[in-house]
Amino acid sequence: MSLTQFRAGAPPAQPGDSLPKVTMPALSEMKRQGKPISALTAYDYATARLVDEAGVDLILVGDSLAMVVLGHENTLAVTVDEMLHHTRAVRRAVRRALIVADMPFGSYHGTVAEGLANAVRFVKEAGAEAVKIEGPRVELVRALTDAEIPVVGHLGLTPQSVHRMGGYHVQARTVETVRQLQADALALAEAGAGAVVLEGVPRESAAQITAALPVPTIGIGAGPDCDGQILVFHDLVNLTFAPAAKFVRRYADASTLFRSAIEHYREDVEHRTFPADAESYHLSASARQAIRAVADSDLDAPDAIVNREAFEDRAS
Ligand code: KIV
Repeated sequence: MSLTQFRAGAPPAQPGDSLPKVTMPALSEMKRQGKPISALTAYDYATARLVDEAGVDLILVGDSLAMVVLGHENTLAVTVDEMLHHTRAVRRAVRRALIVADMPFGSYHGTVAEGLANAVRFVKEAGAEAVKIEGPRVELVRALTDAEIPVVGHLGLTPQSVHRMGGYHVQARTVETVRQLQADALALAEAGAGAVVLEGVPRESAAQITAALPVPTIGIGAGPDCDGQILVFHDLVNLTFAPAAKFVRRYADASTLFRSAIEHYREDVEHRTFPADAESYHLSASARQAIRAVADSDLDAPDAIVNREAFEDRAS
């Protein structure tokens, strides 16, 4: 356990606290004003605090955590309970950003009632302020909206469809598929979606859909003309152990930084240079004296001859 001063729950006041809380309607207002929306994934308390304190508008507790945090091959295995666990950790950290929880594969692919019940859990049990669902599930979006749950849609390359798509391929590359994608995005917006993530689509397709949509588009691998951008945190800081996709920009190399810190720590332990005396707790002078006195009287006892020899051996 760490005894480092740790303040759980509501973080202390930060410079960014003067900024207003981001809400779903605020995202639409940003689109109206032409203000770019910044979004990033986060899956735990520490990362979510950094992302929130940096002033990012939207934090997605993405099902990408299945891969980047839990080590699965794709996003399909993560469960509702696992997503709730991570969403709660993010909730404890965040004051300003809009918290969106990704509904995992299987949690909304049955009946609308099942999808609604699972979405309610994200709001009620984990403090999510919106949920994200993949695909043109218009009926479900309408039901969630009617139930006062804000929804972010997700179209284009939808990772939960990896088996149907036969891999991760750029979508909407033809006139017909761009038209279909735009129709799907409009249908989601009309059903109440407050924003739509566009993933893995050509810049030109995303630009056309962004211009046609009344709600913000948030792009990932969709070019610079979307209303906002989102990246996976682990991609941003190089913690993925894999070559970056074309659309990823690495803003830091946490992998190298962490590796070096860990190696230094191991070496210091092996060379007994960690911990130093200054990193150790000490008894008070009076407690030290008392303990020495007890040790000395133990050594004077007749049955302590063996101990005394062992002590003198060690002291020499
Ligand atoms: O799970 C995730 O990280 C996502 C983003 C890629 C949009 O869905």
